[in-house]
Amino acid sequence: MFSPDEDPTSIANRYGFNPARMPPHLRKQLQPILTKADASECLALNAIHHGDARELLPKIASNSIALSVWSPPYFVGKAYEAYLSFSGWQSLLESVIRLHFPILKPGGFLVINIADILCYKDPSIPKIMADNVMRRCQITKEQVLKAMAAHPKKNRYEIAKLLGCSEQTVDRRLNGNNIRGGKYQNQTRVKIVGGLIEEWGSKAGLFLYDRRAWVKDPCWANSRWHSLSYRSVDEFEYLYVFWKPGVTTFNRNRLTQQEWRDWGSRAVWNIPSVRSNDDHEAKYPVELVQRIVRLLSDKGETILDPFMGSGTTALASVKEKRNYIGIELERKYVKLAYKRLADAD
Ligand SMILES: C[S@@+](CC[C@H](N)C(=O)[O-])C[C@H]1O[C@@H](n2cnc3c(N)ncnc32)[C@H](O)[C@@H]1O
Repeated sequence: MFSPDEDPTSIANRYGFNPARMPPHLRKQLQPILTKADASECLALNAIHHGDARELLPKIASNSIALSVWSPPYFVGKAYEAYLSFSGWQSLLESVIRLHFPILKPGGFLVINIADILCYKDPSIPKIMADNVMRRCQITKEQVLKAMAAHPKKNRYEIAKLLGCSEQTVDRRLNGNNIRGGKYQNQTRVKIVGGLIEEWGSKAGLFLYDRRAWVKDPCWANSRWHSLSYRSVDEFEYLYVFWKPGVTTFNRNRLTQQEWRDWGSRAVWNIPSVRSNDDHEAKYPVELVQRIVRLLSDKGETILDPFMGSGTTALASVKEKRNYIGIELERKYVKLAYKRLADAD
């Protein structure tokens, strides 16, 4: 805890900056989290802790995290985020970002990987009532089911060919999965998340330092739109880099000259998506995290991921000889992460 009467040098040593010199509104806002930062019970290094990030982050030692890199729930309908409403999702991200301030090293970084929300049904948007000039495909769900029963070994593409329609038609007839809105449905709000993330970072006392784009494989599964749509497929995400005020080490030797040219200095990173997402719905590539870890931290430092999922950040940290701390809400993913780490050993 700090008070205006405390010696400024000791406050500065404790937090890496002097809270007494902050604007009053920020000082007031940060007081409670700075107080919690001295909790005696600290989360162990090189472990994945089972629980809610909002409860466990205050248990991390103050000023100990060189780099926090994570991909949160995106609010796009995945099973692991079903417990969140839109406002609950916003509040989760805002809290997690706010809780980073005391635990990041001064001069350290927080990198958030996230995409805009492309499937948020919003009844307040007027419905699109445009005519479809294309003839609607006449194939019915019954016909699809009949074809599947007659040809149980054929996949969706083969069934589509057999029926003379597209694979999307087969999918739509089977699942009614028109998540991006059709003529009579509630429309899909395309929600740009960058502004929210920037606002929450600034409110937490962090500064937006950089942003990059990760170009992944076209994600058709996330873009199951109706044929009445001019929308593009989901195929890129962002990396928002926040900086905690303090002394930052600039070491060009962290990368080779070729790496600086190929990706270190580049804003757009082309990295293929993870091929098999069968054990976790939203793994990000190890290479994506390895790049961030190599660019923004040194060997032996500690990397945090409060949404550890299948353990990708831990894996990348170990490969790059960094320590890690992970937090994950679902026990099955904690187990999966440890298994991935053991398999990589
Ligand atoms: C986008 S996934 C992260 C995937 C991870 N980057 C990987 O490569 O496997 C988000 C993860 O956050 C977890 N999660 C959701 N709410 C959480 C919370 N309140 N605290 C901690 N973890 C949470 C989910 O279970 C999910 O595994």
